[in-house]
Amino acid sequence: MDLSERDKEMLSGSRGRAARKAMEILFALGRIYGARRLIDVSSAQVSGVSYENLGEAGLELLEEMASDGRAVVPATLNPAGMDLTDWPRMGIDETFAARQHRVIRAFEQMGIRPTCTCTPYLAGNVPAAGEHVAWGESSAVCYANSILGARTNREGGPSALASALTGRTPEYGLHLDEARRPTVTVEVQTSLRGPADFGALGWVLGRRIGNRIPLLLGLSEASQDEWKSLCASIATYGGTALFHVRGITPEEAPEPRERIRLAAGDIEDAFRSMDDGRVPDLVAIGCPHCSLEELRRLADLLSERRVARETWIATARPVKEAAAAQGLVEKIERTGAKVLADTCFVVAPIRGRFRCMATNSAKAVFYARSKNRFQTVFAPLERLVEIAVGG
Ligand code: F3S
Repeated sequence: MDLSERDKEMLSGSRGRAARKAMEILFALGRIYGARRLIDVSSAQVSGVSYENLGEAGLELLEEMASDGRAVVPATLNPAGMDLTDWPRMGIDETFAARQHRVIRAFEQMGIRPTCTCTPYLAGNVPAAGEHVAWGESSAVCYANSILGARTNREGGPSALASALTGRTPEYGLHLDEARRPTVTVEVQTSLRGPADFGALGWVLGRRIGNRIPLLLGLSEASQDEWKSLCASIATYGGTALFHVRGITPEEAPEPRERIRLAAGDIEDAFRSMDDGRVPDLVAIGCPHCSLEELRRLADLLSERRVARETWIATARPVKEAAAAQGLVEKIERTGAKVLADTCFVVAPIRGRFRCMATNSAKAVFYARSKNRFQTVFAPLERLVEIAVGG
């Protein structure tokens, strides 16, 4: 692999131990995937933040990296295992909280912004079309590639951190033109409305096309919230890190000859499959994290009512602050629902605390079942609010 002088210095250790370790990770990845060189990235989104997933070994490694590692490009963080200030409201114990705070301190020491959100593009990390970035978090990766037109592979926590500390990534996969072309055309022959419908579409696509790159026809009118829901579910159920939509994805995409068609019945199958038909004891909204628009809609739907079930709404802290400034957080929380920042229901240590989770996120369904062993109810936002208030 061709390395620049600076790459070689980092690899030799002359720019510090953390930079050396980071460069070793990138060099190994590049060799595995046949990259010819390393390229510059303009930002990193670092996953692997929850102490629930990191454990003691992960925390120790981060603290070691923080002793001399410093981010050289703007870098943001994925959600943590708890709201960093309001964690007692989630029932998190003090031991976990102390360890989670140590994780965040280590990242901060490395100069990584503790945004703690899977929607960095709603929290100031917005790469331009054509920019190379190194992002972890599959939903954000898909959003960056498909909607923003930036270029990133699906990085893991260590490789995204390595890119933050070096400003480099191996040039392979979705950094290259030829790997970004669609290979199957998908005609969506039914109208979809709302993030739940788009999440269901991702479920269907995952089963029908796996991790192939589709050109999607029939969807160009979707909203930002619908795209982020599709990005989360298509990445979860099929592993797809890029889709093309004409007029949305900012790059030319030839129309593949192979064509499949999806109809209303496919979406109904997805809804049925994600719903166990039980009574939920947790209503979870905000996977990916809620936008300001979603919080506004929730405030309207919940207005002057009272929730009868534990109801958690997850968002990015800057979005929560913007919502608070407009009185939306107060309006939502007056109902008994909790607006939580910095965290997500998948990486929070809540296994065993609930039996059945209601959500409008197809991605959350997947992890609620597989990681937390919850049963699930899958429904649009309007229905979730009725469930939350006891319907
Ligand atoms: Fe975000 Fe957690 Fe869902 S990271 S996309 S809220 S699983």
